[in-house]
Amino acid sequence: MPSATSAAHAIPAPRQAASTPWAARALSASARFWFLATVIGQLFFAAYIVALYGGTAARGNLPGWNAVMSHGHVPGDGAGNVATGIHLLLAAILMLGGALQLVPQVRRHLPALHRWNGRVYLAGAVLAALSGLYMLWWRGAVGDTTQHLGISLNAVLILVFAGLALKKVLRGDIAAHRRWALRLFLAVSGVWFFRVGLMCWLAVNGGPAGFDPQTFTGPALSILAFAQYLLPLAVLEAYLRCRDGGNAMLRLGMAAVLALLTVAMSAGIAVAAMGMWLPRMHG
Ligand code: HEM
Repeated sequence: MPSATSAAHAIPAPRQAASTPWAARALSASARFWFLATVIGQLFFAAYIVALYGGTAARGNLPGWNAVMSHGHVPGDGAGNVATGIHLLLAAILMLGGALQLVPQVRRHLPALHRWNGRVYLAGAVLAALSGLYMLWWRGAVGDTTQHLGISLNAVLILVFAGLALKKVLRGDIAAHRRWALRLFLAVSGVWFFRVGLMCWLAVNGGPAGFDPQTFTGPALSILAFAQYLLPLAVLEAYLRCRDGGNAMLRLGMAAVLALLTVAMSAGIAVAAMGMWLPRMHG
């Protein structure tokens, strides 16, 4: 996995760095802060997936998949169980492989690793989205139709962004490839943002607010089902515009917004890790 130093260069340097070095440096520092917090948070999520789902499967305890999921292991549903197993395996691979793919040192010094990890990541993202759609609409899942529509749009965006990232690199347009790869990374991270966002919301409100924890439905969750990827994608677009064409004030403002959002995200990661992921790793 990336080191703090390599993460520091995860996002390419601003073009106008020479004219506004302090603002560009502030924006770059904010991006590094975000990237590092994201990598740490995704490692926790990956460790949870491997320990809970991989651990129970390795011990032959497939019903252990139902500890969190409403339709984890269903006796007699062979195809559905296989699809769920593939989905969970891909989930762990994507959480580990995504951040690695964004580290420039890997791209520069280990191009073969970048290419192979990239192929696995693209194929994995597409399969995770397709298996997720199957689980959502045919197998059954928690939440209501609005939440299901929200995560379905997430799946569609994963498929579109994966296609565009691949198309751009095949045409040799590396700058566009990087932008679509970043969008793909955020869309694939949507389900992770959902958990982090929900934990942040619970911490701020001191418990469930704006939804019914029994049925897992309500306006807060409906909004989160879309915000889990639309908000990160909107922040990315604002960041790219400020980085590539913004003046010093815009860059400084963006740096402050990104830092504040990362503090909130880090709080969500801490609550998710301590309250949700670490305690369930012995399932
Ligand atoms: C691409 C990144 C994705 C990752 C990393 C991921 C990860 C996971 C994990 C870890 C679980 C088990 C639940 C838990 O322990 O928290 C899960 C379940 C599930 N995922 Fe995904 N997922 C991804 C994408 C998707 C997409 C795009 C969809 C829908 C289109 C989807 C639909 C589902 C469904 C329906 C469940 C079962 C929930 C239930 O039984 O209530 N996933 N996913």
